[in-house]
Amino acid sequence: MSNEDKQQEDFISTVSHELRTPLTSIRGFAQTMLSSWDVLDDENKKKFIRIIEQQSNRLINLVENMLSVNKLQSFKDKLVYKTANANALIDPIVQIIKHQYPNHLIEETFNEKIPQILVDVDKFQQIMTNLIENAAKYSNDGTKIIVKTDFSTSPDYISIKIIDEGIGIKEEDFDKIFTKFSRLDNPLTRKVQGSGLGLYISRILIEKMNGEISVKSNENGTIFEVFLPVENVENQAIKPFKSTK
Ligand SMILES: Nc1ncnc2c1ncn2[C@@H]1O[C@H](COP(=O)(O)OP(=O)(O)OP(=O)(O)O)[C@@H](O)[C@H]1O
Ligand SMILES: [Mg+2]
Repeated sequence: MSNEDKQQEDFISTVSHELRTPLTSIRGFAQTMLSSWDVLDDENKKKFIRIIEQQSNRLINLVENMLSVNKLQSFKDKLVYKTANANALIDPIVQIIKHQYPNHLIEETFNEKIPQILVDVDKFQQIMTNLIENAAKYSNDGTKIIVKTDFSTSPDYISIKIIDEGIGIKEEDFDKIFTKFSRLDNPLTRKVQGSGLGLYISRILIEKMNGEISVKSNENGTIFEVFLPVENVENQAIKPFKSTK
């Protein structure tokens, strides 16, 4: 079997498994409700419907992530660059995630003086959503998450740090988490939903935007740092409509 066939086969078996798990659970709870409707009290009916809703969300998330991966691998997904202020793009994401994770303390430490960046706004927000959501998913209620923007030590880049007090990631897993369908085996990862595609998609998008992502972690928590190029004269020069003097 060629390497490509093998990859294809692995992909199909992973995807089938990822689809089957939530579907089996949706079917199971729907069947139980239909066959035992009269004996179930409202409390239990509600509980089952909530599970069906959660599992449907899991499927939607998975399908959306797989579509993103598929687009990333084709040339269809052209990035649309715009000059933007990172703080202004991150704030609404933080507000949404605060709402979804009311038991976490999510703080913004923004440097108001950071320069503008040149990014695809939707993709940038997709990356931030995954990183901040991960920080919340892989840490316990009551812990703090800091989203920090600043100048980077390397010139021409800004730095965005997502700092959590979660379960941490072992150094030997640093490379693995950025690959397709990779989820680490620990009690918290088993408890929360995910397709293992978020960091893979984020890394590819950041690299496409000429940036970089790195991770530092120990048992007290994790820091993901994203570097993105500032909008400067050099970047503007590659935009044809600006160089028509
Ligand atoms: N902040 C973090 N702290 C601890 N572990 C993390 C953190 N972020 C990611 N991980 C680990 O890396 C794995 C991969 O993360 P990734 O975002 O790619 O996938 P996911 O969150 O499982 O699913 P998805 O983002 O596709 O919904 C996670 O399953 C988790 O085990
Ligand atoms: Mg994720």
